[in-house]
This record gives sequence, structure tokens and C-alpha cells, in this order.
Amino acid sequence: MSGELDRMRAELERLIAELYEGERKILVHGEGAPDARVMLVGEAPGEQETLQGRPFVGKAGKNLNEFLELAGLRREELYVTNAVKFRPTKLSAAGRIVNRPPTREEVQLFLPWLRREIELVRPGVIVTLGNVPLRALTGPKTVIGDAHGAFREVEGLRLYPMYHPASLIYNPSLREVYAQDVRRLADCLRKEENG
Ligand code: URA
Repeated sequence: MSGELDRMRAELERLIAELYEGERKILVHGEGAPDARVMLVGEAPGEQETLQGRPFVGKAGKNLNEFLELAGLRREELYVTNAVKFRPTKLSAAGRIVNRPPTREEVQLFLPWLRREIELVRPGVIVTLGNVPLRALTGPKTVIGDAHGAFREVEGLRLYPMYHPASLIYNPSLREVYAQDVRRLADCLRKEENG
């Protein structure tokens, strides 16, 4: 399906160039195995992702790799993407360009493309990282604090919501919960693989 994924990315590039004419938005597309069993969906690319053109690199990538190691997963066997495919930014009080959370409109703009990506990759499990991809796929009322660490079926998709790895930086008390969620996911994947 990688040809189809390439075509989809090219279409999305054209659409965003048209919609944001003059703004030169840089898209960071999903990457990884086109037939991956597990798809990770983050929030949106940050500065490093935009510079390198890859999702989850830099600090966020380091956090993600820790999670993968814990789960016994290798990044090459996954598909990694984001709910929003450009970096949402704002000007800080000091006049610097900094990250901001994506708006609802931005999430809605990219949602059909995320769904198409999911249809093409057809993963057995979609691990949403944080509230943004979780709500994009389940509705605005879902809360990560309640939903994390348990499989749920939504419109034919099998989701496994997890906290965003970056939330551990701001809230170290989540570490143990996070590790438990990762272990549960890893156990389940292993059991399914063995029959
Ligand atoms: N980098 C990404 O690609 N996604 C996130 O959600 C955070 C950092």
C-alpha cells in the first residue's frame, strides 16, 4: 500500500498548499511499515519533527523509544503518525515561535486524512498518544484519564489509548501508570501473536 500512501501524501500536500497559500506550511507525514500491525498516532509535529521531516524525533522521539523498548516493539515494525500533520505554532511573549496545541479546526481538517491513512495501513491496533488523537477518533467527550490502558472498539477501529509520552515530563507521577499500560499492551500483542 505504500504507493497509495505516497499518492495520499501528495494530495494532502496540494490541499494544504492551496488552503494556506503564502504560509509555506511544512507537513510531516506518517512513516513506517505500510502493513504495520500497530499504528501510533501522536498529536502534531514539533520543531525537530518539522526540521527533520519525520514524526517523533528529538525529545519526543526519545520518550517514544523508551516506550517502545518497554513494550518490546521495534520502531521499524510500526507505523507512526500524527493527528495533525503540521506544527501548530504561536508567538511567545518573548517573540519566539513556540508550539501550541492544535485547534479543533486543525484536527478536523486532518481527520479524513488520518482515517484514510488508517484504511491504507489497516493496523490491528491503533495506539493513540494523548487526548488529541483519542478525541479525534472517538469524540470530544472522551478523556484520557479514564480511557487509558484499555482496548476499545470505535467504528470498526481497535484503539488502545495511552497518555502522551511528553506528559511524563510534566507529570512524573504518571510514570508507573504509563509503564503498566505499556506492559498490558505488550502482553496482549504477544498473546495474540502466539495464537
Ligand atoms: N512529536 C510528534 O511527532 N508528535 C507529537 O505528538 C509530539 C511530538
